[in-house]
Formats: sequence, structure tokens, C-alpha cells
Amino acid sequence: MRDLENIQSSRIFGRRQGKPLKAASQERLDRLLPALEIKLPEEGGQPLHPSVFFSTEGDGVYREFALEIGFGKGEHLAWQARANPGRGFIGCEPFINGVSGLVDKIDEYGLENVRIFADDARLLMDRLADQSLDHAYILFPDPWPKNRHHKRRVINEGNIKALARLLKDGARLNIATDHREYCRWILSHMLASPDFTWLASGPEDWHVRGDDWPATRYEAKALEQGRRSTYLRFGRRCRQA
Ligand SMILES: C[S@@+](CC[C@H](N)C(=O)[O-])C[C@H]1O[C@@H](n2cnc3c(N)ncnc32)[C@H](O)[C@@H]1O
Repeated sequence: MRDLENIQSSRIFGRRQGKPLKAASQERLDRLLPALEIKLPEEGGQPLHPSVFFSTEGDGVYREFALEIGFGKGEHLAWQARANPGRGFIGCEPFINGVSGLVDKIDEYGLENVRIFADDARLLMDRLADQSLDHAYILFPDPWPKNRHHKRRVINEGNIKALARLLKDGARLNIATDHREYCRWILSHMLASPDFTWLASGPEDWHVRGDDWPATRYEAKALEQGRRSTYLRFGRRCRQA
């Protein structure tokens, strides 16, 4: 487990609150977030299985769990949750306008299988149980292009190790970016990990998103500005017996 000092030294530098929310969104957030939000218990207890955040009755019993780090306004997460009602989804996003965007979609689509951690994903990841996730998504992480800011990148050795611990054998990790240099960084870090394998056999695999994954707001903006995105799919290698 990484120590708190380490997390704080590479804390999130973005804004947590942007424009004031519209009255209807603020009302929805106030009304619905308390039941959706993950609050971590005091440190020192047992590792947390993702199932503890969901209802244990009826439709709330999920066999698979997924984590999205930095869900933005939640387009991808809400889409996946609708497409996979048997899977429990946990989204992490410290930006409250983004959280509100996801809450709006959860309400609109009547989603039961989503929980929200409205903070730095690393605080939650450090508390989750080993091999408890089937899928993880990191779509368009902030590229932090300046060399001196590279230490702020979400894709780094520590987070790759944390994801390797959390993902089950054969679990999937999807990453996308529109930033060329960050793409090279992501690939070199992921390929240096003994725990992941890149599931690509040719350019089709990283140039085309595929229909199991919707466009996000950030991706649409990048395309408008003439930047094509790269879609990287990795598999968690099987642990040795
Ligand atoms: C460039 S945006 C992309 C948002 C979204 N995935 C999309 O494709 O539209 C990156 C997001 O990651 C979030 N983020 C950055 N670091 C994070 C962390 N440590 N934990 C959770 N979210 C994080 C930011 O707040 C921001 O919303």
C-alpha cells in the first residue's frame, strides 16, 4: 500500500469545482448523491470488496465489477452500466461538475449498478481487495505535457502496479488518449509491466474504438480540433500458480 505522503505529493492539481451547477442538476446531486456516493471507512480494516458498496438483494447482486478512473461527465460509465446491467460499476472523479453529469445520467436511465467515489481514485484503489475487479477504464487521462509535470500523470508505475493487484487474471484494462507523446509513455509503461499484455494484433486495434465503447466528451472535442485518438486494450496476465 502506498503511503499517504506519497499520494499527497502527487495530488490532483485540477479544479474540483468549475461553473456553478444549474439548479436542476444541483437539486438532483443533493437528492441522489448520498445514496450513490462511496465513503471510505476509517483506515485499518479489512480490504474492501467492491460488492460492499452495492445492495445485496435482488438486482444488486453483481458477479462482475468495473472501475473507471476520471470519468469526466460520465458518458462512458453510464453507457457501460446500461449495456452491462449485471456488472457493478465504480466511477472515480473529483470534479464535482463531472459527478453531477453522471448523477444526471444515472437518474435519466434509472441505473442501479453505479457507485461514485468523488475523490482521487488512488485513495479508493489502495483500500480495495486484491483481484476484485474484472474491468478498468482510464479514458483520456490529462496528458500533463510539460516534462516537469509528468509525475502528475495517472498512468505511472505505481498506478499500474495497483491496477495489476486489483484486476483478476484475464481482466481487461482499456485506456484511450489523443496525445501522441502520452500514448508512447502509456505504451512504454504498460509494456514494461510484467502483469499486462497488449491485446492488439494490428493498427485496426488501436485506431478504431469498436462498438463496445462509446465516444466521450473529451474524445469528441479532440476530434473537432483535428486530433485522432488511440484506443489501447490490455489484459491482466494470469498469475503463476
Ligand atoms: C481529460 S479528462 C477526461 C474525462 C473523461 N474520461 C472523458 O474522456 O471525457 C481527465 C479526468 O480525469 C480526472 N482525474 C484526474 N486525476 C484523477 C484521479 N487521480 N482520480 C480520479 N480522477 C482523476 C480529472 O478530474 C478529469 O475529469
